[in-house]
Amino acid sequence: MGQNTKLEKIVRDVVSAHFHKALIIAANWKMNMTILQGKQFLNQIDGMAAQNKILIFPPSTALASLALDFARNGIGYGPQNFSEKQQGAYTGEISVEMIREIGCQYALTGHSERRLYYHETDEVINSKVLRGVSEGLQIILCIGETLTDRESGSYRKVLLHQLETDLRGVRSEELSQIIIAYEPIWAIGTGKSASEEQIEETHGFIKQSLRQLYGCTIPVLYGGSVNDKNAAEIGRLFDVDGFLIGSAGLDAVKFSRIIRLAEESCNEGIEWNPCVFTNKKRDKGK
Ligand code: PGA
Repeated sequence: MGQNTKLEKIVRDVVSAHFHKALIIAANWKMNMTILQGKQFLNQIDGMAAQNKILIFPPSTALASLALDFARNGIGYGPQNFSEKQQGAYTGEISVEMIREIGCQYALTGHSERRLYYHETDEVINSKVLRGVSEGLQIILCIGETLTDRESGSYRKVLLHQLETDLRGVRSEELSQIIIAYEPIWAIGTGKSASEEQIEETHGFIKQSLRQLYGCTIPVLYGGSVNDKNAAEIGRLFDVDGFLIGSAGLDAVKFSRIIRLAEESCNEGIEWNPCVFTNKKRDKGK
């Protein structure tokens, strides 16, 4: 490790040990939770978060029915998926206009389950990102590598490709409408999260790539077996700005514990969505 890198690491360790930012704590309910179960869940976590940002991505039925309950509890909400098309004969799809109508400000896209089971390509995801951004949504864009990519060492290439393709056409002034969720596929639903070193290194790489593409960076959440046992340690890492949580986000007790841990370690007054522009590389040639 060179002198500069060593010094940088010391500074980062000291900063992350003493200085905690507000986190974005997002739950992806996937195809779980009826409306009734969602209501019961909300009753249990009612009014807990003050400094951190809580987001929930329920299935569409609960999304529409619980929109007011989410809003009343100060919880951001949105769909797990939406159409890249504006409207028309697209059976089974939901448009941005429809989700805006029920007050959604956020939306997930690019989750590995959509990529894997519903064959969503980076090109389709890119169209969704552009649609969502142009209609004023805050997009949580999920990216992540397979175990083979991780083990072969090609994960950085894979992540960079996802970033470049999924964000193609997003202008630098629109970048603050994007939040990245780094979710290594091999850590999703396995009960075994990536190690702190892996998370730190990969988040650093993602932020560095964004700086190179845009001259600024945006929040990067970690997802993949986050629970009430590992959230405090992961949330403390320098380049981690929050979590995207699957199974622990279905359990009100565990989810509340994660929120409480984040609240306890949070100093007030730190913006959760910083995007400081230093140049406008991405806009060149447009
Ligand atoms: P998990 O899921 O927390 O159950 O691993 C995370 C996700 O798929 O977003």
